[in-house]
Amino acid sequence: MTITVIPRHPALGAEVRGVDMRRPMDSATRQAVVDAWTKHLVLVFPEQEVTDQQHVAFTRNFGEPEIFHQTSLSLRSDRVREIFLVSNVDDNDRLMKPSEPSQKQLSSSRQWHTDSSYRPTPSIGSLLHGIEISRTGGITQFINMYKVYEDLPESLRRQVEGRRARHDFGMLHRITGAPPASPEEQAAMPPVWHPMVRRHPASGRKSLYISSIYNDAVEGLDDGAAQRLIEELSAFAAQPHYMYRHVWEPHDVLMWDNRCTVHAVTPHDPEERRVMHRTTIVGTEPVVAA
Ligand SMILES: [Fe+2]
Repeated sequence: MTITVIPRHPALGAEVRGVDMRRPMDSATRQAVVDAWTKHLVLVFPEQEVTDQQHVAFTRNFGEPEIFHQTSLSLRSDRVREIFLVSNVDDNDRLMKPSEPSQKQLSSSRQWHTDSSYRPTPSIGSLLHGIEISRTGGITQFINMYKVYEDLPESLRRQVEGRRARHDFGMLHRITGAPPASPEEQAAMPPVWHPMVRRHPASGRKSLYISSIYNDAVEGLDDGAAQRLIEELSAFAAQPHYMYRHVWEPHDVLMWDNRCTVHAVTPHDPEERRVMHRTTIVGTEPVVAA
């Protein structure tokens, strides 16, 4: 099977045609997808009406799917436990209110982040299936953090080179008002330190590695200065020439690289159903400083 790759933005993002996620992939096609992913960072696979099981099976072409560690907010599917639920509809098909705990926690995804950076070996990438998509917003935006790193002004570059930032899952509750993790969940996921500039194991390129929702400390800075630095870096990164904005169509599947991109969703009307299922590829090695 041959695939066709059509860039969506000069900085990152490309549509891939010629893949049917419901069927096994041969090794040549798999390699072509990996090559396109390494080059474009975010791949869009249109018209993939997959079941959760097919979604998980497709993910296994690229690594082991992560099992979300937190169970208290029902963000992990009971039926297929590799599926993370990005949804405002509960198991009984009831539209949830923005004030409900799971929705508060999910609201953190409006700020720039990369998935599972709070793990000792953070995720390689994520695959998000738009089942019911929002028409009032809910645009998923991605930034090419290679380019951001390359273009950093000297004043910012000096502050990130050779430095580490702390990533803490517990920060979600502090910034969104969602319930705190249980003592067991906190013990399972203690804060971790990662380099702010990392080298990608496949491309060999350097990128900026930060998170507005998990970074609660930076080496050598007090809390206020650390927060200001992350804000300043995020503001520099969020420029249109580094950004692909994905307007969803039903049954798009997006596959992005968590090592060299950050993403954030735009607000959407809470009265509108939005149901998306995500798999997250487990990281295989610690973050390597560049
Ligand atoms: Fe995310």
